[in-house]
Amino acid sequence: MNQPRPASCDRFDRQAAHYDTHAALQRAVAWRLAHYAAGLPLLPGPRADLGAGSGLVGLALRQQAPGLELLQLDGSAALLRRNPLLAPDRYRLWDLDLGLPPELNHCSLITSSFALQWLQDPATRLRDWAAALAPGGWLALAVPVAGSFPQWQQAADQARVPCTARRLPEADTLIGAAASTLALGCLRRLVFSVRYGPGGRAFLRQLRRLGAGHSDQASLSTAQWRRLLAHWPPGDAVSWHVLLLVGQRPERLAP
Ligand SMILES: C[S@@+](CC[C@H](N)C(=O)[O-])C[C@H]1O[C@@H](n2cnc3c(N)ncnc32)[C@H](O)[C@@H]1O
Repeated sequence: MNQPRPASCDRFDRQAAHYDTHAALQRAVAWRLAHYAAGLPLLPGPRADLGAGSGLVGLALRQQAPGLELLQLDGSAALLRRNPLLAPDRYRLWDLDLGLPPELNHCSLITSSFALQWLQDPATRLRDWAAALAPGGWLALAVPVAGSFPQWQQAADQARVPCTARRLPEADTLIGAAASTLALGCLRRLVFSVRYGPGGRAFLRQLRRLGAGHSDQASLSTAQWRRLLAHWPPGDAVSWHVLLLVGQRPERLAP
């Protein structure tokens, strides 16, 4: 039943042992997402965390709403192995670029945090996730969006090298995709200013340790990296722009 590992998860597999140590922002966002999910009036039906990784959302939800368990679905076998929420019928190794597994039709709750941006077509996948909800089902999503890492863009502009940060989805595109099927409740555009240390190097190292250092753009030469780092703006923080969205599939679907 399980799918082969998606190529996009290779680095997450390799860095799985370090993920929890370096995922402070992901843990904080997972807690906040779980806070919203914990208060939802859920109908019976499948509940899943998509791109669950080591289980940060499920663990936060277990603390805030004991008894609310989520299927742990991810493409990284190594991260799933480190996930304390695994039970034989409660996890799925699956490539989300292929859509959702059949058992997630008519879900009562789908959560996903910091995973959608890794998929090839985030807006289409988000539309599919919304469509997989049962009438009355809920989606609770957190995802980093375009506008993140302005310090990296500024350094690249000043160093006259391309900014090779992974392209992140536009918040407005994702909001439009979700709103085509869901009634949106909570909608927040959050900015987290995370301190990594001066100069950009510590931030880039942290991304690599998370397994999140790979980009969809051609890498810089060594000389270009040096120029980039030499032009990194002063200060030791890097900003993440995160879209947090909770929506419900209407009980009565439009004809
Ligand atoms: C930054 S981690 C976030 C994990 C977790 N949701 C959290 O908040 O800590 C991104 C997750 O997306 C998963 N992922 C990336 N591409 C995927 C794909 N095509 N199919 C399934 N999972 C994928 C990775 O394996 C990884 O666990």
